[in-house]
Amino acid sequence: MPGTAEGVDVPSASDVLRRCRELVRPALVDAVGRLHPWTGEMAAYALGWSDTTGTPEPGGSEGKGVRQALALLGAEAVGADAARAVPGAVAVELVHTFSLLHDDVMDADALRRRRPAVWKAYGTGPAVLAGDALLARAVTGLAETPSDHAAAAVRRLCDALNDLVAGQAEDLRFEHRPWHGPGAVGPEQYRSMAEGKTGALLGCALALGAVLGGAPEPTVAALDRAGRHLGLAFQAVDDILGIWGDPATTGKPVHADLHRRKKTHPVLAALAGGSRAARELGTLLASSRPADGAAAERVAALVEEAGGRAATRGEARRHLDAARDTLRATALTRTAARELDVLFAGLADRVR
Ligand code: IPE
Ligand code: MG
Ligand code: MG
Repeated sequence: MPGTAEGVDVPSASDVLRRCRELVRPALVDAVGRLHPWTGEMAAYALGWSDTTGTPEPGGSEGKGVRQALALLGAEAVGADAARAVPGAVAVELVHTFSLLHDDVMDADALRRRRPAVWKAYGTGPAVLAGDALLARAVTGLAETPSDHAAAAVRRLCDALNDLVAGQAEDLRFEHRPWHGPGAVGPEQYRSMAEGKTGALLGCALALGAVLGGAPEPTVAALDRAGRHLGLAFQAVDDILGIWGDPATTGKPVHADLHRRKKTHPVLAALAGGSRAARELGTLLASSRPADGAAAERVAALVEEAGGRAATRGEARRHLDAARDTLRATALTRTAARELDVLFAGLADRVR
């Protein structure tokens, strides 16, 4: 339902996402069609377009399409036609899909968007290969964009990829770090990891739209910063959903992060307090038993009691505010800036 601000109709976040999905869809279908038929089938499954037999599955398990929307709005925000950003939108959606395929292997998560993860459905080797194929296609497609800005766009995408890989490296390494003491993960280390694994690509999506739209570097840099803040808000919400989300809604397993000893924001924030709940939580986490079933429920309850959930909501809110402030301080076209604002707010309040 559209809302009204200053007498002007403002579409809802889902309207914005839908409009952008429709604009990008033909180019995305074309990109996937250029893959080897086998990796293409896995990519179509991962994108929620078809089932494991390659049979189309309309309305299946498509993602929200946040990154492609950010790319288009990035171009519109600097006064360019959204069409100029379509190659960037395709690239970030393909990179996102690749990163999820590999992430589910790394995290041993068997469920994604309410269906078996690609590695569960097709095997680990094939899933890794499908991810590689998507990554290669993303970079190739962007490099082939008939634009004077193609080289700058590829450069930005590669920078974001390096940050994403570094963030994933930290995320995995943190699993083996202690909860307390000198080796514990500090707030700044968490932030850097989350900005890398999630913020870099969201920032890149917005920035790519602006680059392809011919914007000057300071504007591109501001949009990148806004997207990174959005990513930190998004990851904070993701961390919350990983503990208290409903798998029927998120389509992902619950408590998997606890089981793998992921250093998520709610747990780190809970441990940082000195309450009785924080101390009991510390003792429970220090035991070598994996947090499964009833133990995971107890951990979740203690994290909540020790204020971890509220602190993480606060963290999401702060980064959402920073993202919106960054947008407001940048000279952008009114309509696109409004749509970005609506989209940002919707993502920080998401339940899936
Ligand atoms: C995923 O991070 C980041 C990338 C895919 C690069 P998470 O592992 O926290 O995300 P989910 O919960 O599996 O979606
Ligand atoms: Mg994961
Ligand atoms: Mg992960």
